[in-house]
Amino acid sequence: MLRNALLWASTNPTLAERLPRYGFVKRATRRFMPGEELIDALAAADRLGTTGVNSTITLLGEHLTSLEEADRVVAQYRDALRTIEERDLPTEISVKPTQIGIDFGVAEAAERLAALCSATESLVWVDMEGSAYVDRTLELFLVVKEGAANVGLCLQSYLKRTEADLDALLPLDPAIRLVKGAYNEPPSVAFAKKAEVDRGFAVLTQKLLRARHNGGLGRPVIATHDPRMLGEANRIAYELGLPKERYEIAMLFGIRPSEQKRLAATGHQVRVLISYGESWFPWYMRRLAERPANLWFVAKQLVG
Ligand code: FDA
Repeated sequence: MLRNALLWASTNPTLAERLPRYGFVKRATRRFMPGEELIDALAAADRLGTTGVNSTITLLGEHLTSLEEADRVVAQYRDALRTIEERDLPTEISVKPTQIGIDFGVAEAAERLAALCSATESLVWVDMEGSAYVDRTLELFLVVKEGAANVGLCLQSYLKRTEADLDALLPLDPAIRLVKGAYNEPPSVAFAKKAEVDRGFAVLTQKLLRARHNGGLGRPVIATHDPRMLGEANRIAYELGLPKERYEIAMLFGIRPSEQKRLAATGHQVRVLISYGESWFPWYMRRLAERPANLWFVAKQLVG
């Protein structure tokens, strides 16, 4: 129930407008985002880099109201890419389809995503949003991938369709970031039970790592904080004889940070997603919904 309430709050425009104005609410976010500015995200990326942990940065904000806004988002990502290159940081970018104009058409978003891909040699990741966007996001990915090798896509194991989607994508050698999924989805499209989501995650992990073992060029990224899922990924890789350098583990900034460092220190490729920007409210509510225990942390900020 709490999860549903938090996911409801994540889509409420009035809360999104009002709550972030309060200093104590802002302070409570600091565990999960180093700050609102690019400079904050890059400073965190730099610090993580010194511990052998790579990063991906993402500008918060979704569901824009005009293509001009999408162009401003693209300009901000271009600035980020320039600074990452100047400072030689081990950092990539990840964009949400709705941030780059997919509500105005796949072609509009594709034009902007392709521009970002051509501005860097690193991978440009495409987040996966709510299920209503999956078809369009797959189309966006395929259109851009035709002209750019450096585009990667996130897939969600909670969706019943994802195994078939992955099967269709694998012959194209895609870079895939596998996650469980963070949106409030109906049982018609998503598995309702955690055990089913986890089972799906293990099956998809197996497919991704096997494809890599069989010579696939696309980078498989297993993005989870779940010790069982991580153990499963490492077990599959070990049984396949797939070296640690050939797949990646990804987590979110501020979640299990000592495990991130420990994995990196034991030779794993670890990447942390760092979010920044002013429009953090829906994203922050989704983080709390994932683990309502984090509400204790928020409560401590309120009284502390
Ligand atoms: P889950 O939430 O099921 O937790 C399982 C276990 O993990 C817990 O029992 C605990 O042991 C551990 N754990 C989880 N959270 C913890 C915490 N806060 N502190 C300590 N332990 C914790 N989603 C999406 O829909 N689209 C996207 O594009 C992305 N992109 C993305 C990128 C990256 C790099 C990551 C890591 C995640 C995403 N996500 C996402 C979010 C993802 O879908 C999912 O909601 C979260 O990763 C949480 O799910 P877990 O796999 O961690 O497991």
